[in-house]
Amino acid sequence: MHLPRPRGPLSAAVVGVMSGRAVLDEAALAAEIEALPETVDVLVDDDFHLALWTLYELHYRPFDDASQDWEWEPGLIGVRRALEERLLAEVRFATSEWVHASMAARGDVAERLFALTEMVPGTALTSYLHREATLGQLLEYLQHKSIYHLKESDPQSFVLPRLQGPMKVALAELQYDEYGSGRPQQLHQTLFAAGLEACGLSSEYGAYLDLVPGPTLAVTNVMNLFALRRTLAAAAMGHLGAFEATSSEPCRRVAQGCRRLGLPDTVASYFDEHIEADAVHEQLAFRDICGGMAAEDPQVLGDLFLGAAAYLYSESLAGTALLDAWRDGRSSLLPDQESGNQSDLAAAVAS
Ligand SMILES: [Fe+2]
Ligand SMILES: [Fe+2]
Repeated sequence: MHLPRPRGPLSAAVVGVMSGRAVLDEAALAAEIEALPETVDVLVDDDFHLALWTLYELHYRPFDDASQDWEWEPGLIGVRRALEERLLAEVRFATSEWVHASMAARGDVAERLFALTEMVPGTALTSYLHREATLGQLLEYLQHKSIYHLKESDPQSFVLPRLQGPMKVALAELQYDEYGSGRPQQLHQTLFAAGLEACGLSSEYGAYLDLVPGPTLAVTNVMNLFALRRTLAAAAMGHLGAFEATSSEPCRRVAQGCRRLGLPDTVASYFDEHIEADAVHEQLAFRDICGGMAAEDPQVLGDLFLGAAAYLYSESLAGTALLDAWRDGRSSLLPDQESGNQSDLAAAVAS
């Protein structure tokens, strides 16, 4: 993967430093992040989220054109922290209504978490993919999804050492499934990559990074914000539970959309795999992990709800961005400055 094309001053500064073309002025950059103008929507801004995504990625896979030693460079960690603090504050503010309602609700923690998934308004994205999307739009959707699903479940692995006893066992069980249950060909990342290839898309890690807008990057950034910070482990697990609890039916709809459009079965089978698996995973995540964490330490309750609401809200913003673009007759991807456009790709797959 190559460093992304910058989209503004923050990503230009981060990419400039990582490529060795600029010297990091951490204090100036942190001050700039703190004083971002009102016009910058920290929840979805392109430049903000590309900068943060690039910094997080240092913990996952190397950039061909940057030293891997940047991972623990104190100056870059400082910049990341400044971005994270802004994002965390915005996420807390945006989700406070649902977190407060869940805190005030009575009953079992898992039931309150399931109820929260009904509280946050979702989008009609997967219904649209099921019944209306064109082939080109479904291929766009897969490109958006490639940003997370080529490293599916890796962020949550960082949380394993932060859980103890039954909660650690439950997360390991869930992750074992995501990682193929002992069969490399069943690794979910590999299943997704095979689906991309089967419909003529690139399965190369980060291939579509320059094409996906801020709201899509924000979904992964919110996940990393929680997963990589030990004090937010409960939020990471609430986030995971909400992901799993809202996956089964949407995956069924996307699989049906893939079949309606005549895409190879490899693509639909990735989504098929999640219809049943995630119905099990939601129980593991909300009951065994989140319920167990709350029983052990009631103080984490607010963070469990925060994580769940943050997932649902960030996913809804990303889905809305796709639907808005399509309803306006636009592509949901940024213009590709390097190669062919999306309609050529759709035509190639259709033929
Ligand atoms: Fe999965
Ligand atoms: Fe899952």
